[in-house]
Amino acid sequence: MKPVTIGLLGLGTVGQGVATILARNAAEIERRTGRPIHVTRAAVRNRSKAEALALGIDITTDAAALVSDPTIDIVCEAIGGEDPTLSLLHSAIDNGKHVVTANKALIAVHGNALLEAARAKGVAVAYESCVAGGIPIIKALREGLSANRIEWLAGIINGTGNFILSEMAEKGRSFEDVLAEAQAYGYAEADPTFDVEGIDAAHKLTIMASVAFGMPLEFDAVYTEGISKIQREDVEFAQELGYRIKHLGVARQRDDGVELRVHPTLIPERRLLANVNGVMNAVVVHGDAVGPTLYYGAGAGSEPTGSSMVADIIDITRTMDAHPSHRVPALAFQPEALHSQTLLQTPDYEAAYYLRLRALDQPGVLATVTTIFGDLGISIEAIVQKEPDPSDVSEPIPTVPIIILTGRVREGLVEQAIIRIEALDTITQPLTRIRVETL
Ligand code: NDP
Ligand code: HSE
Repeated sequence: MKPVTIGLLGLGTVGQGVATILARNAAEIERRTGRPIHVTRAAVRNRSKAEALALGIDITTDAAALVSDPTIDIVCEAIGGEDPTLSLLHSAIDNGKHVVTANKALIAVHGNALLEAARAKGVAVAYESCVAGGIPIIKALREGLSANRIEWLAGIINGTGNFILSEMAEKGRSFEDVLAEAQAYGYAEADPTFDVEGIDAAHKLTIMASVAFGMPLEFDAVYTEGISKIQREDVEFAQELGYRIKHLGVARQRDDGVELRVHPTLIPERRLLANVNGVMNAVVVHGDAVGPTLYYGAGAGSEPTGSSMVADIIDITRTMDAHPSHRVPALAFQPEALHSQTLLQTPDYEAAYYLRLRALDQPGVLATVTTIFGDLGISIEAIVQKEPDPSDVSEPIPTVPIIILTGRVREGLVEQAIIRIEALDTITQPLTRIRVETL
């Protein structure tokens, strides 16, 4: 059968992974597809750097020419960012090419229009590699769990962030040092603030929520907190209380709307997610019929991400000659059945809370604080007052850290408690608030 031809946009960490897998596993892949798949051209900025890889691919610096090349069937984008990728992918679609992309920022922010353009043209846009690197989570949500009403999902979905948190917790390494190592491995985004401030995880959560709940891609609706403000003492206190701090993306469908949130989270140490370390990612998906299911694997890196892109290429190859209506819908639900949901705001969120406050070490402080919780009807699951730190001479009276774990409660009530506690004369610093999920 006629080979399927691939034009690669980008030949960096991910693009090289795709080219390597397609070359190394060509025979095995052809046994699955029934026809060969060849990468014929790749577009980059620096031609000599790409040619030095000696991959046997025609290298061009003219990406616009690649996406209009009549010999190319599938455009595989591994450049990143919005410019020039958005216009390149629209051109590819206009030219009748199928598209595979690893660009979660593009899909999360511009995916609705891009997918609509592809639908109008009868071509596919596939994006498995956008979420959780090598884990086939989109496949699981779109196909394997399609019998279910998805109730919630929660995952560690940024490899760089998890690598940083794990190395800090296990080896006491500094944030900057571990981030530099993640960049050297090619895990981090071109702008690593996307990783450490939770933006990348928010892109991925946007995509998963859409596929899980049948809603359009709504990146702006995701509440986003990163890992850059996590203090070493919180990591240690959490461990003493039997928890690990992980950066989690949570999407929950409730009767009154949808929670979409990305933030550091305390997870009980016995939970599998609490033990997902390094660049590994994991996602728990809870369906009404199947119950909880867990997906685990490398969340970033050349071949893990390439694995997902090549799987998309194989899927497209298998249905290339079929009528577009026979393909799995791009966002899992029929396009006309997608509908927006009420997007809940932070005061409506429900979770348990870890609160760390610093108070003057004098009688009555704890009683005043617990009274505030009692007045608001917030249950306290645990309260720990630590020893005064002799090195802390910032106040005339010694201060002590107090750690409070609340029961599950509406966040608006916790916000009220925080305001009242911070107004007390005996409280010397703003409170630290971290959500707790027992999953
Ligand atoms: P790299 O920086 O390693 O590679 C980018 C590639 O794109 C390079 O070959 C670069 O060429 C090329 N490029 C950049 N700008 C242009 C342009 N204007 N025209 C043509 N080529 C261009 O990035 P990654 O491979 O790490 O990431 C690519 C995409 O994959 C991003 O969207 C990222 O979010 C996503 N992704 C990355 C993962 C990872 O583990 N790294 C995992 C999952 C998704 P040159 O070198 O010549 O400048
Ligand atoms: N920068 C991303 C991460 C790449 O670290 O998870 C994979 O999407």
